[in-house]
Amino acid sequence: MPSTATTIGNFAFDNCLMNAAGVYCMTRQELDEIEASAAGSFVTKTGTLEERQGNPEPRYSDTALGSINSMGLPNLGFQYYLDYVIELQDQPQSKNHFLSLVGLSPEETHIILKAVQASEYQGLVELNLSCPNVPGKPQIAYDFETTESILSEVFSYFTKPLGVKLPPYFDIVHFDQAAAVFNKYPLVFVNCINSIGNGLVIEDETVVIKPKNGFGGIGGDYVKPTALANVHAFYQRLNPSIQIIGTGGVKSGRDAFEHILCGASMVQIGTALHQEGPSIFERITNELKAIMIEKGYQSLEDFRGKLHYIN
Ligand code: SIN
Repeated sequence: MPSTATTIGNFAFDNCLMNAAGVYCMTRQELDEIEASAAGSFVTKTGTLEERQGNPEPRYSDTALGSINSMGLPNLGFQYYLDYVIELQDQPQSKNHFLSLVGLSPEETHIILKAVQASEYQGLVELNLSCPNVPGKPQIAYDFETTESILSEVFSYFTKPLGVKLPPYFDIVHFDQAAAVFNKYPLVFVNCINSIGNGLVIEDETVVIKPKNGFGGIGGDYVKPTALANVHAFYQRLNPSIQIIGTGGVKSGRDAFEHILCGASMVQIGTALHQEGPSIFERITNELKAIMIEKGYQSLEDFRGKLHYIN
């Protein structure tokens, strides 16, 4: 049987599939369901300095080709998630986890990361530089100067394994510029992509979500080509020590296979997990293994990043 095991930094995972931040990760109960599923890990809902209610409802809608959301970072506060991953890391059967975090300002981000640095948590941290849904707060990673200044300060005190969740980029020059920034820092991973920000879905004559007059992040089938492009662009440009997590449009083993072919070491599932529930991990793992058997691949290393071009 082929293996879908993987590693990120020094952390091993029995399976490369897991949830994307925002889906099935708000409470301990939801996280427990992912932990008990065939997923190789979980990432927590992005935790802010204080608990947040998020944007008014309706703020998520499934659509014909995926989803639109403007959640606005509802969460129970970073300490809730930090306490939980510390509790789990002491349990012998526990998987390795990702703690997702961001402040509503650089100052808040540093307060949070200093608290994580001072804590007993030894696992991976995902700094979310890409939420499109908090009114008045732009997606940080579209501003390379701010991104660089945050990372430069973070790495003056933060020594635990850290990666960043990125928004999609759409221009080759932006891939080059973003990669040049990330290559300056000892990041363990980048996660491509968050939702495509500020789309608009309409039914009859009306928007389908309330916040921001209907503008929201797009996920699902719409975003897979953009996600694959971002995974591959960063795979080509980043130092080999910075691994890629692929997120966007994964609802089948074939989709996961394509993310890995583009260079992903781990693959996250958002919209399809929201629609199908945690049993999706077993289905997609089986579909991915069936593709690997058909192609004679034993491990992800046999095809990771080995996308064929047309000469
Ligand atoms: C949200 O809570 O608005 C979604 C999180 C994100 O897109 O980073």
